[in-house]
Amino acid sequence: MKLRVFVTMCLLLPGVAAASSAGDWQMKEMTPDLENQPSLQRGFRLYVNYCLGCHSLKYQRYKRTADDLGIAHDIVLETLVFTGQKIGDLMTSAMDPEQAKSWFGAPPPDLTMVARVRDPTWIYNYLITFYADETRPFGVNNKVFPNVGMPHVLMDLQGPQYCVPMGDGASEAEHCELVVGEGGLYNADEYDQAAKDIANFLFYVGDPSRLERHRLGVYVLLFLVILYVLTFLLGREYNKEVR
Ligand code: HEC
Repeated sequence: MKLRVFVTMCLLLPGVAAASSAGDWQMKEMTPDLENQPSLQRGFRLYVNYCLGCHSLKYQRYKRTADDLGIAHDIVLETLVFTGQKIGDLMTSAMDPEQAKSWFGAPPPDLTMVARVRDPTWIYNYLITFYADETRPFGVNNKVFPNVGMPHVLMDLQGPQYCVPMGDGASEAEHCELVVGEGGLYNADEYDQAAKDIANFLFYVGDPSRLERHRLGVYVLLFLVILYVLTFLLGREYNKEVR
């Protein structure tokens, strides 16, 4: 009997941990799309403007990004490289990790691999669920990363977001609904798209060769189609000879 209880608990625990990690938040769907080049380009621009100051992409070069996303080198250098770096340089942050640790409690991690460790859906949900919380050092909390040590860096775009209690008597943090206040540069749809674009961009960064494989795949299929047609025609010629 005891053994059965133990086994049941072992089976249930991971489920409980997974469910509680997002609190009462129902994850919203987001499907990364590497074919959507404008989305990747917007994600790149947003990342450089709002994230790179703290989070390096230390395995990713500007040049590779520019080439993969179809942006000319001089445009990237003029509009997206703010640190005096060169086109062949790695996309590192200028922030001193030691200092960053003392400011934020935890140093901002490198995000090159984040879309592999967490998935793009998680990143998207993370970016749309910052909400005002006076008890936190930066005045914000997050639904999928409770007690996060990162400020809501996209507040200018989204506007302040509040968690309004649903009035069912449960603890406020657990049962509240996210409502966006006035003052954001973007409307709800535009902000949603921006969060998706950043998640999509980080999905690309997690494995840049995936994009290449996608494109190569198309050529391979085209090649096979042409080969099929040629083989078919050749076969017909042979048939004629045989008859
Ligand atoms: C002012 C510095 C700062 C900026 C700018 C910033 N972050 Fe963060 N970020 C942090 C810190 C600090 C943490 C660590 C939080 C913790 O562990 O509590 C973090 C954590 C994260 C994490 C979780 C990483 C993990 O796996 O634990 C993600 C994802 C993330 N940031 C994405 C972004 C994105 C996307 C942007 C740009 C829109 C951004 N951050 C801008 C400071 C920053």
